[in-house]
Amino acid sequence: MALRGRVLAPDPHARKLIDWPDALIRITAAGTITTIEPTPADCTIPQSWPGAVILPGFVDTHLHFPQLRILGSATGPLLEWLTTTVFPEEARFRDNGYAESIADTICQRMASFGTTTAAIYSSAHPGATEALFGALERSGLRAYAGLTLMDRNAPPAVTLDAATALTELAALVDRWHARDDGRLHVSVIPRFALSCSPNLLAAAASFARRHALLVQTHLSENLEEVRQTAAAFPESQDYLGVYEDHGYTDARTLLAHCIHLSDQEWARVRDRDMAVAHCPDSNFFLGSGCMPLRRAIDAGIRVGLGSDVGAGRTFSMPRVAAAAYDAAQVRGEPVSPTELLWLATRGGSLALSQEDRVGCIAPGFDADLVAVDVPRGTTHEVTDALLFRHDAGRVRATFVRGRQVHGERPQRG
Ligand code: GUN
Ligand code: FE
Repeated sequence: MALRGRVLAPDPHARKLIDWPDALIRITAAGTITTIEPTPADCTIPQSWPGAVILPGFVDTHLHFPQLRILGSATGPLLEWLTTTVFPEEARFRDNGYAESIADTICQRMASFGTTTAAIYSSAHPGATEALFGALERSGLRAYAGLTLMDRNAPPAVTLDAATALTELAALVDRWHARDDGRLHVSVIPRFALSCSPNLLAAAASFARRHALLVQTHLSENLEEVRQTAAAFPESQDYLGVYEDHGYTDARTLLAHCIHLSDQEWARVRDRDMAVAHCPDSNFFLGSGCMPLRRAIDAGIRVGLGSDVGAGRTFSMPRVAAAAYDAAQVRGEPVSPTELLWLATRGGSLALSQEDRVGCIAPGFDADLVAVDVPRGTTHEVTDALLFRHDAGRVRATFVRGRQVHGERPQRG
C-alpha cells in the first residue's frame, strides 16, 4: 500500500517535526513502513485525503475504561469526585454485559479521534477487563491495559483482594499479553497508594517484574491526596517513596499526573528513568494544578500526554496538547505546539517503551497513522491549527499497523 499527502514526521529523538509537503509512504502487507520520500513529479497516485496532514497515530498514555459514562461530571476535587462519581459508576462494571456495552464504544471513540495506542485502566473486575481486551482485539488498536488493583478505602463493589487479583492478573497475561504480535499488552495497575494495602502494592510490583510488564499508577495529583498518602505511609520519605519502598523502581513505570512532586522526587523519577503521563485537561477539570512540563522534558524525563478520561473531558489528543500548552503558559514556562505534537505521538511511544515500532514515520516503523484536516500553511501555521482550532481538525482516517481502524478509505485515483 502507498499513502500520499503532506506529512509531519516526528524526529526520533529531538522534539521536532519534519514537514514533508508532499510525501509518499510505502507500507508492506504486514503493516511496516518501508519508505517515505518526496512524491516524484510523475506519480499517478492521488493525495490520499486531500486537505489533510498525515501524522503518526496519537498515543494516549492514560485513560480509564469504566469512566466513559461519567466523562464531564463536575464533582471534583479528586477525592470527592472518586467517592461521589467514580466508585459508584465503576461498581456497575461487576456486570459483564454493562462492561461489554461500553468496551466497543470506547475503542471506537479512541480510533475516531486518531488515537492508535492507549494505556488504559480497567476496573477491578476480571470480567470487565476481559470485555475490554476483547474489544481491543476486535478494534485493531494497540493498547496496554489491566485490572485496576485496589483492596482498600473504597466500597467492596470496586475492590478485589490481593490474592484473587494476582491470580486473575496471571490469567490475563496467559490470554492476552503480547497478543497479535505484541499489539496488546497486559499492564499492572495499582490504582494509587491510597487504594492499595502494602501487601497488594508489593505483590503487584513483584508480579510486574517477573513478567516484565508495564506498571501504571497515579502519583501526586492533588494536595489532599498527597497529605493522606503521607499519613497512610509514615515510613516512606515521600509519595514516590511509597512506590519505591514497595518495589517500583524501574523504567517500566508510568506515573500519571506528577503535579506536586518535590525536586528530590523529580530527580529520582529521572534517575530511575520512569515515565510520566501528563494529563492537563483532567488537571484543569479537577483543579489539581499544573505539572511542570517544561522542567520535566528539559531534564530528559520521558513524558507522554494522557486524556485521563473521565476526569479528562476529551479523547482528542490535540485538545489535550492544547490544554498542555495552556498549563505551561499558566506556569510561565511555555512549551511549543511542535513539542506538544511530538509528545502526543513520539513522546508517548517512548513513555511506553515502544520506541522501535511506534511514533515515527520512517522505514522499519509500524504504520500507525492518522490523517487530520488542516488548512494549508507553513509548518508553524499547521501545528498551531492542529492544536488550537478546536472546531476544525476532523480526523479523516486512522490506521494501526497498516490496517484501517477508522474513517475514509484513501483515494486511489
Ligand atoms: N487517582 C486515583 N484514581 C484516579 C482516577 O480514577 N482518576 C484520576 N484522575 N486520579 C485518580
Ligand atoms: Fe487517571
